[in-house]
Amino acid sequence: MSGTSRWSVGLALGLLLVGFASERPQPAVAKKVGPDDALVAEGRFVFERNCAVCHGKWGDGRGEMALGMVPRPRKFTSGTFKFRSTPSGSLPTEADLIRTIRGGLFGTSMPTFQQLSDREVRSVVEYLKTFSKKWLLPDNYSEPLTIPNPPNWLNDPAAAAPHLRAGKELFVANCQPCHGPEGRGNGPAAAELEDDWGQPAIPADLSQPSVKSGPEPRDLYRVLATGLNGTPMPSFLEATTDLQRWELVAYLLSLRPSTTAP
Ligand code: HEC
Ligand code: HEC
Repeated sequence: MSGTSRWSVGLALGLLLVGFASERPQPAVAKKVGPDDALVAEGRFVFERNCAVCHGKWGDGRGEMALGMVPRPRKFTSGTFKFRSTPSGSLPTEADLIRTIRGGLFGTSMPTFQQLSDREVRSVVEYLKTFSKKWLLPDNYSEPLTIPNPPNWLNDPAAAAPHLRAGKELFVANCQPCHGPEGRGNGPAAAELEDDWGQPAIPADLSQPSVKSGPEPRDLYRVLATGLNGTPMPSFLEATTDLQRWELVAYLLSLRPSTTAP
């Protein structure tokens, strides 16, 4: 092989790498999009036995138990998902859907499903993807955001005090209009809010011991980073720093009933 051709191979490879590096993060491109056909039939069986009563046989949120339910069961035909680890506007990951199905959604009719096998949960996740064409478009997929571990100061009241004050200020400026002064979900803007499905969107009562996304500090952090698609709850990924998000989390935890009283 001559020196020239080896050089041109190297150059071509270099260009190829530059080409790849300049593209946006690309799990979607590398990964197969859409439902995994091998699991769909099994998932349909699991769905019709466990989920259709609320979410509807056709995934349209109109199951026989859904009438009058608040909040309503999700319409999977809309392809819009509130609870995700992905940036605002993106589809959730499989792990996100599994977390919701296994853990349920605090304060709603969405139950926990501990009794299903891992394979049953995986297959019903694939079946959910058959209800909306959004799952067929690579552009709707994103890498999950990294949700960091809480900083050490979060569990140390003395060290947390200044952060708690900063979190309260951020809350008053950014959250109070919807969530209200004590975070009970009754801010001045609350009554006007609607979700993408035309239902009143009630800001979460943050004085409860948990939220739909889960009870842990990292669950709160995730909500602040991702927002809840289809609802007025925005993502604060651009508007806040990592530290500010933890300061907000510290303040949100302080609104909860204290469970550590001796
Ligand atoms: C008793 C009624 C009920 C049953 C049964 C039920 N769900 Fe739900 N589910 C709900 C409600 C209500 C919501 C909406 C909660 C909300 O919007 O805050 C929901 C939301 C969800 C979400 C959240 C979507 C999002 O926006 O991120 C997923 C995923 C889900 N359900 C999957 C399932 C699966 C899979 C099953 C069956 C294994 C199931 N559900 C069974 C009532 C139910
Ligand atoms: C424009 C109104 C609005 C603003 C501003 C807003 N929220 Fe929300 N928030 C909502 C609504 C509506 C929901 C309930 C959505 C749902 O469950 O469907 C919500 C839900 C939440 C939840 C619960 C999520 C869950 O998993 O149940 C948390 C935590 C939260 N907001 C924190 C905040 C914080 C902190 C701020 C300020 C940094 C903020 N929100 C700003 C409207 C708002």
